[in-house]
Amino acid sequence: MPEKTLTIAVLPGDGIGPEVTRAAMRVLYAVAAQTGLRVVADEYPVGGAGFDVAGSPLPDATLAACRQADAVLLGAVGGPAWDGVPYESRPEAGLLRLRKALGAFANLRPVTVPDALAEGSPLRPERVRGTDLLVVRELTGGIYFGDPRGLSGAAPQRTAHNTMRYAEHEIARVAEVAFEWAERRQGRVTSVDKANVLEVSRLWRAVVTELHAARFPHVALDHLYVDNAAMQLVLDPQAFDVILTGNLFGDILSDLAATLPGSLGVLPSASIGGAVGLFEPVHGSAPGLAGRDIANPAAAILSLALLLDHTGHDAEARALRRGVEAAFRDALRTADLGGTAGTQAFADAVAERALAHEPQAL
Ligand code: NAD
Ligand code: IPM
Ligand code: MN
Repeated sequence: MPEKTLTIAVLPGDGIGPEVTRAAMRVLYAVAAQTGLRVVADEYPVGGAGFDVAGSPLPDATLAACRQADAVLLGAVGGPAWDGVPYESRPEAGLLRLRKALGAFANLRPVTVPDALAEGSPLRPERVRGTDLLVVRELTGGIYFGDPRGLSGAAPQRTAHNTMRYAEHEIARVAEVAFEWAERRQGRVTSVDKANVLEVSRLWRAVVTELHAARFPHVALDHLYVDNAAMQLVLDPQAFDVILTGNLFGDILSDLAATLPGSLGVLPSASIGGAVGLFEPVHGSAPGLAGRDIANPAAAILSLALLLDHTGHDAEARALRRGVEAAFRDALRTADLGGTAGTQAFADAVAERALAHEPQAL
């Protein structure tokens, strides 16, 4: 049988991005050596790193490599070093361009609280234990991308404006993703909007309701205003299965959801919809932690597990997840979760446990 090959474009980015992506790749190499998967992974600059070496936060060569890969693993972009650069050249603009270029309109952000982390959660353990929800965030539209946008005038009379816009098809295609995930999970979708104030949200609610009636009547659907959704997420996270929402609300709610397991450092994501998926932790470049071997690599490792799911490498995906869970069970924690394990040591512990549990070569 020919050897299976997985080609990953690795975009380490800025701040802690390089540390956590390299830690995650080390875990994958260890697992792949055992299962017989051949991994071809090259690194390409993105974000501030792209700006520094090629004058662009998304260099052409980086985008070309992403398009040719089976999947993309991204660390994080941004940091104070690029605060002064023009908007179109900012690291964050490069990431938005990459998502758009790859057609990654659906951002899946699973939030679970492993039993071992419930006790350490900043929220009461009995509230958060058993949390298993999926935020489906629209990723290539809404106020992030709407025109017109701009900043004009001179102080003290400056004005600025952005446009929140969704076309019907953009809402329907991400809603379809959410309903399909609900079918495979607990069968419930909560659509989050601000329909009591915004026309965009009224259209959002109408399109979601129509799609539900036409194709997914067997899925339970309810709607929450985003302010209430934020409160419910903290008060009763177990009440949620799939949360469907737009770009801006999804960004905010998913960081809020990090309070459930206790750190952004454990939340992974998958940005999908086009031919090549982009897998990226929910967290940013955490500049204060960069280069100190203290960042939590779990979100990057679990993003890699989502990449493996998406490319059909189920055994390797399971191994990575089991490794992370076992490391938590064995009380290994990086500083964000109150522990003393370094980035590298945590990743090594994950690799060891992933291998210990993985059956022999497939
Ligand atoms: P951030 O996610 O970098 O950090 C928020 C908080 O979480 C900080 O206290 C940080 O120390 C902590 N944290 C984040 N990841 C962690 C990890 N792996 N381990 C331990 N602790 C972790 O958000 P921020 O501080 O608002 O933004 C910093 C920079 O990152 C900005 O330039 C921002 O634009 C960028 N950013 C990038 C992405 C991305 O690339 N996907 C996402 C969010 C923010
Ligand atoms: C995220 C980040 C990005 C976003 C930024 C860096 C553009 O916060 O992935 O959550 O807002 O989408
Ligand atoms: Mn964010």
